Formats: sequence, structure tokens, C-alpha cells
Amino acid sequence: MSKPQRDRESKMGFEMRVYGWIAIAISIAICLCPCLSLEETNGERCNLYEGTWVYDESYPLYDSSTCPHIRLEYDCLKYGRVDKEYLKYRWKPSTCDLPRFDGQSFLTKLKGKQIMFIGDSVSLNQWQSLICLLHSAVPKANIIQQGGDPITNYTFKDYGVSVIVYHSTYLVDIEGEKIGRVLKLDSIKSGNLWKQMDVLVFNTWLWWYRSGPRQPWDYIQIGDKIVKDMDRMEAFRTGLTTWANWVNKEVDTSKTKVLFQGISPMHYNGTQWNEPGVTNCAKETTPIDGTSSSQGLPPASYVLQSVLQKVTKPIEFLNITALSELRKDGHPSSHNGFHGMDCTHWCVAGVPDTWNELLYASISE
Ligand SMILES: *[C@@H]1O[C@H](CO)[C@@H](O)[C@H](O)[C@H]1NC(C)=O
Ligand SMILES: *[C@@H]1O[C@H](CO)[C@@H](O)[C@H](O)[C@H]1NC(C)=O
Ligand SMILES: *[C@@H]1O[C@H](CO)[C@@H](O)[C@H](O)[C@H]1NC(C)=O
Repeated sequence: MSKPQRDRESKMGFEMRVYGWIAIAISIAICLCPCLSLEETNGERCNLYEGTWVYDESYPLYDSSTCPHIRLEYDCLKYGRVDKEYLKYRWKPSTCDLPRFDGQSFLTKLKGKQIMFIGDSVSLNQWQSLICLLHSAVPKANIIQQGGDPITNYTFKDYGVSVIVYHSTYLVDIEGEKIGRVLKLDSIKSGNLWKQMDVLVFNTWLWWYRSGPRQPWDYIQIGDKIVKDMDRMEAFRTGLTTWANWVNKEVDTSKTKVLFQGISPMHYNGTQWNEPGVTNCAKETTPIDGTSSSQGLPPASYVLQSVLQKVTKPIEFLNITALSELRKDGHPSSHNGFHGMDCTHWCVAGVPDTWNELLYASISE
């Protein structure tokens, strides 16, 4: 070996040792300070919603058959789903790692507090996943259950943490009156209870286009004006704006952390994943290839994002739309207790666990 080459190699060896030490020092720093993992090397905040799904043998985070009272809508394995790859995907943000869900740490951080999911059955879906995640972390913990409509309240007694779901299809009110059921786009009467919570996670979308027998109202009211129907996207925007004004006026965000969940995507149109003609998710066993940024967003997303900009208080957007769009494989399809074709909700365990990991990251900050 010539001398210059030896010199070069010993210099490289030295550099590798130095870099090795730096790498070890950085790993230690990251291990000691989990908050660091959400930051990119240049100190900017990592966009947790920009990334891809990666196969990970260590998933799912729990065995759904051990989860208490898992609802028949979401219990895909029990109702005959045989492919299991859909359980094995972890969400990987492009420039950092999403912290793995730690149920004990979640309960400790929220000690003495109440977290409430408010919205339609997608909120129920996420609540169910969170109950399973927490139960699997502390399987012996005492859970007090209070059921009923509109509130289901599971309290982890040893931690004093209540995990609650409040069923509200539109967030704004529907009231029975002489003329029939009236959807009141400018009224939120349940807000007085909601604002007493410590963490609120809102969601609404599924019901805004329902019509015919599945439509749960007869008239729409805005102020003194009552109409039989109106442009549904405008109705959605008006209802959400009422919600935004309610947050601005009523919620003390120094006490209550407010999150709004992005639109949960459905998979009934194969054009979305280059299989035009396919009309449901029944045969889907793997995610769509690609990144969240390659996904087009549904029109309602733009309405939602523009209304959220009217909120003057600090709130957080749980931007799950694009990352969930990639998961055509995440729905129950016919593997649910009512045997209908469901490409709207999500299997538990499954995609909502990732939503809760994102929620966990947000609460951990
Ligand atoms: C939930 O249940 C706990 C325990 O019973 C109770 O202290 C709390 O007030 C309940 N929260 C709501 C919103 O009902
Ligand atoms: C699926 O989406 C494509 C593109 O948006 C649209 O042209 C087509 O009509 C849709 N198909 C169905 C059955 O809705
Ligand atoms: C949510 O994520 C999508 C896809 O990454 C992005 O296009 C959109 O701007 C994000 N919305 C907000 C409000 O950050």
C-alpha cells in the first residue's frame, strides 16, 4: 500500500471514529430526551403528517382479541379477516420518527384529566382504538365504564384518567320542533360540557351529505331562516364556522387543549389507486405506494382547513387525511358484525392506532 493511500485510510479511520462518537452522542441525547425525536437536525419542527407507511414486524401495538368490549363494527379479525399484513404498517414521517405509543406514559401525563372525542362514528373508532391501546398497556387497571348516548365514559381509576366519546354527528344541534327535526347550523348547546374537559378531539364529516331515510333532520335553520335543504358543502362550512366561533368565544385554551381531526377518507372508488371500476375495498390487503404528499385531498378538506384558519386561539390540526388515504387496506370491508360492506370505518387494531400515536406525540410535547 502506498504511503498517501495509507494516510488517506488512517484519516478516514479517524473520521469514522469521530463520526461514530458523534452518532453515539446524538443517539444518547435522543434516548434521554424523547422530545428531540420530533425535531429535525436543523432544529425545525418535523412535519409528522408527511411520510410513508413502512412494514414493521413489531406491529400491531396490541392483540385486539384481548381488548375489552371491542365493538362489532371494528373487530375485523373476529369477523373473519384472514389477511394480516394490514396490521404491520407503521407510519414513518420523512424527517423524524413518530414516537411509539406508550400507554403508561399517556396515562401518567394525563393523570387526573379527561380527554373527550366529539364527533361521528369515526370519533368512536378512534376512541375505541385508544381504549385498546391503553388497556393493553395496563391490562390489570381498574376501568369504570359509564355508557349511554351521547356519552360513553371509560375511566382508568388508578390514574384518574377519563377517556370519553361524545356522539355528535354534526357538532351543531338537531332539535325536535313542531315542524320536525331541525338542524341548527348556528347552535352548539353541548359546548358547556365539552369546554370543561382537558383535551378535546373534534371531527365531523360523514353525515353532511346524507339524504333520504338516512338523513336525520327535516329542516335546516340559520338564525331566523328555515329552509328545507341547501348546498351541503355550504352547510358544512356554516356549521364548522359556528364551531370555530364557539372555540374563539368559549374555550379557555390555556386549560383545554383543542384538536380537530382531518377528514377520514373512504375507499369506494378504485380510480384512487389506479384500478378504475373497483367499487370497494374488499380485495385490498396492502397500502397504496407513495407518500402522503402524493395524495390529492377531498374537497371537504379545503373547507375544513379554511374554517380552522378562523380560529384565533391555539388549536391543533390532526392532519390524518392524506396518510389515511394511502390505507385502502385498513377498512373492515365485510369483516364486521353486521356484514355490510364498510370502507368508511377502520379495523381496530389498525389505522386509528396511528391517529392515536399522532395524538400521543401532540400531548407529549
Ligand atoms: C367520567 O367518569 C368519571 C368517573 O366516574 C367521572 O368522575 C367524570 O365526571 C365522568 N365524566 C363525564 C364527562 O361524564
Ligand atoms: C371515481 O373517481 C373518478 C375520478 O375522480 C370519477 O371520474 C368516477 O366517476 C368515480 N367513480 C364512481 C363510481 O364514483
Ligand atoms: C395536511 O396534509 C396535507 C398532505 O400532506 C397537506 O397538503 C395539507 O396542507 C396539510 N394541511 C395543513 C393545514 O397543514
